[in-house]
Amino acid sequence: MIDAEYLKQLFPRENEIPEEHRLRAPVHQRAYLIDGTLRTWNGRSQPVLSPICVRKNGSLEQVEIGSYPQAGEAEAEEALAAAVDAYDSGRGTWPTMSVAERIACMQNFTKQMIARKRDIVSLIMWEIGKSLPDSEKEFDRTVDYIRATIEALKEQDNNNSRFIIVEGTIGQIRRTPLGVVLCMGPYNYPLNETFATLIPALIMGNTVVFKPPKFGALLFHPLLEAFRSAFPKGVLNTVYGRGATVVPQLLGSGKVNVLTLIGSSKVADHLKKLHPKVHRLRAILGLDAKNAAVVLPDADIELAAKECLLGSLSFNGQRCTALKMLIVHQSIAEPFLRRFTEGLGKLKVGMPWEKDVSITPLPELGKVAYLTECVEDAKKKGARVVNEGGGVSCKTFFYPAVVYPISDGMKLYREEQFGPVVPVMPFEDLETALEYVITSEHGQQVSIFGSSPEQIGSLVDPLVNQVCRVNINCQCQRGPDVFPFTGRKDSAEGTLSVTDALRSFSIRSMIAAKQTDASTQLLDTIVQEHKSKFINTRFIF
Ligand code: G3H
Repeated sequence: MIDAEYLKQLFPRENEIPEEHRLRAPVHQRAYLIDGTLRTWNGRSQPVLSPICVRKNGSLEQVEIGSYPQAGEAEAEEALAAAVDAYDSGRGTWPTMSVAERIACMQNFTKQMIARKRDIVSLIMWEIGKSLPDSEKEFDRTVDYIRATIEALKEQDNNNSRFIIVEGTIGQIRRTPLGVVLCMGPYNYPLNETFATLIPALIMGNTVVFKPPKFGALLFHPLLEAFRSAFPKGVLNTVYGRGATVVPQLLGSGKVNVLTLIGSSKVADHLKKLHPKVHRLRAILGLDAKNAAVVLPDADIELAAKECLLGSLSFNGQRCTALKMLIVHQSIAEPFLRRFTEGLGKLKVGMPWEKDVSITPLPELGKVAYLTECVEDAKKKGARVVNEGGGVSCKTFFYPAVVYPISDGMKLYREEQFGPVVPVMPFEDLETALEYVITSEHGQQVSIFGSSPEQIGSLVDPLVNQVCRVNINCQCQRGPDVFPFTGRKDSAEGTLSVTDALRSFSIRSMIAAKQTDASTQLLDTIVQEHKSKFINTRFIF
């Protein structure tokens, strides 16, 4: 029976944690990186509690795995000043460095990062409760992303390594940095999603102020030395502490040129407005989403249930791309729910290091209470939990709840639950499903399950104008990382992918000259004698 006691017993006693999965030691981070120096923090620290609890004398305690600096406005200001100096109005070492040299720095960084894989993976697992294979996958995917970014930049730069002549004007066009980037990542993919913006921002020649997420901050500690030694001083600066304390002043200074944030649209709106000249601030944002799956009457129920299960409950539903509403045709709702809940019942619940585990403890304090509130609200308004044990919780564990039938007016109808609750809504008329997507504040992705070419085809046409990816007979997801990742409405601003991110963090700039003998002679000499980093025809291999 799945009850609170069952969940409680899944937490280990201290001595039951397998030796190979223990943290080597708690990480009491005192170092922070500003202007090329690892400074020592002597002020207040933020303790880090793992979502993993241990059983002790009959009760449960979250394991304290370390602490990090709770810096304030003064340190944030210093970090910003260092980034501004390193950019030096575009004259700094980093923004004027050749692309090949910047790539070499990034390769050096990657090498150092790979050497710290074990520590970083272990911290991902302990800080946010992600399963060990998924934590490893997050690390490996991030390294692949960096390598792909380097290759994409080479290609982009090589394509621009030539002059063009149009209407008697000679031009050379290249992509140039934007300035100082404020980078903030999310807790669910603390390494991968952060680096999906940080790496392209850096490699394009911008300087960065980086604030790690609240959960998933310690895992950057093993990388501080690599950040320090791989890049010129001031190119990457860290800011620790409460976002509400340190971030507003950074934007209010008017010195941040790019805000990149994976988080909520509410926070993003608030921050953007703090910039004194909003038009000067470029924003690259990955925001809220409530991706729906529409399961049509002729869908392969087996396949739909399997994909919806993966889509809604991978990493406990804590993915921005997760399926957060299942809209199922009422003629198949019963068999669909049966297969879905059967599959759910087989998901292993346990500690992140356990083999084949799927459901793990949640990092966000208050999340269990919020999810319970959502389920209770739906129950009060006529829905029920259709799976055994659904909604049972114990400390940081929340056993997934499938809630049916969801209707307008319930919290789960519109709110992004971002956790292991699966709202299911029946529909009769396809228009109802379409209306749900159209009237949503979100516009990231949708999944449709069905087999009629006619029906799928006619659904895709309006849906591609509502969201930015329509997944056919498969769950929503971001990857492969070369595909454009973006959204409409409250879901995103700008586009990320290996190549799009390089564009997002840069702007085209060019030289232009009249096609005269004097100009061609001048440009030729600049190229032959390597007088400019910008005007050149070098090929990066
Ligand atoms: O949280 C949002 C992530 O980018 C989702 O990535 O779809 O590959 O899990 P994923």
